Amino acid sequence: TLPRVYVTRQIPPEGLRLLHKSGQVQLELWDSDDVPVPRKELLQRVKGVDGLLCVLTEKVDAELLDAAGPNLKVLSTMSVGYDHLNLEELKKRGIHVGYTPDVLTDAVAELTVALLLTTSRRLIEAAHEAKTGGWGTWRTLWLCGYELANSTVGILGLGRIGVAIAERLAPFKVRKFIYTDVAPRPELAKAINAEYVSMDELAKQSDFLAVCCALTPETNKICDRNLFSKMKKTSIFINTSRGGVVNQEDLYEALSTGQIAAAGLDVTVPEPLPTNHPLFTLKNCVILPHIASASYTTRNAMSALAANNLLLGLRGEPMIKGLKL
Ligand code: GLV
Ligand code: GLV
Repeated sequence: TLPRVYVTRQIPPEGLRLLHKSGQVQLELWDSDDVPVPRKELLQRVKGVDGLLCVLTEKVDAELLDAAGPNLKVLSTMSVGYDHLNLEELKKRGIHVGYTPDVLTDAVAELTVALLLTTSRRLIEAAHEAKTGGWGTWRTLWLCGYELANSTVGILGLGRIGVAIAERLAPFKVRKFIYTDVAPRPELAKAINAEYVSMDELAKQSDFLAVCCALTPETNKICDRNLFSKMKKTSIFINTSRGGVVNQEDLYEALSTGQIAAAGLDVTVPEPLPTNHPLFTLKNCVILPHIASASYTTRNAMSALAANNLLLGLRGEPMIKGLKL
């Protein structure tokens, strides 16, 4: 009999087509994109499966892996981030893990630039004013923001995405790129002529600070009061990585007291962020519902890569993008 695979979300068509076409697996799906599979149902559905294809809303922990049982050989997540996976538990069980880097880099970089400009030039506020009667006359300092020309852009966590963002920002006449990471990354930095600095210097020098690191125990809430207090009052904070890297109470304080100028967030804790959250009351905070990779092309590519990783893993072959555990 064919290996059984559970897919925890209605994924974009490219990936589903590959799974069906392969004739290699017996597919079971949570057939909705609008609601995640309830945890209780998930724990039931994974019993005895050989493969699991999930998205970032599913916490893959010991409980889930125990519920699946010893047949589970392959886990494929349709995401570049893997902070929802307990890698230690996966490793212990010898489960092969696939993820979807690279195919989303362009989409995430584009969205990050869009969010940065939306935040720095106050586009949401401005459009709201135009529509609701606030546009009394052309005014000299009304809705003024900050420009990229001659600015210093700081990248917290330089990887593929950080480089792609810097490449797109350079034509805006950014004066200088700086970055910090656990260690210098000269190969990546060379491509964008970025200087390695300490976390302190990153905070002090950046006019725009873009968070591009993965969420790990080391990066959990590293953007906190200490960081914000060293930033310029005119600086803009942008996060398209994971909400967990930010201490949101500290960010609220920094934004509401004018310690920094504004923030653009594509990610929060929790997700969705409750509509009554204090951050939503701030005009200088733009919050998007985790859409950085949300283009049709990219989501289909992620879906296809996740499907291919799964199929390869089930055949015992190296995945296109596998995690070394
Ligand atoms: C999105 O956040 C991803 O990890 O792919
Ligand atoms: C703006 O529209 C200007 O003419 O300066």
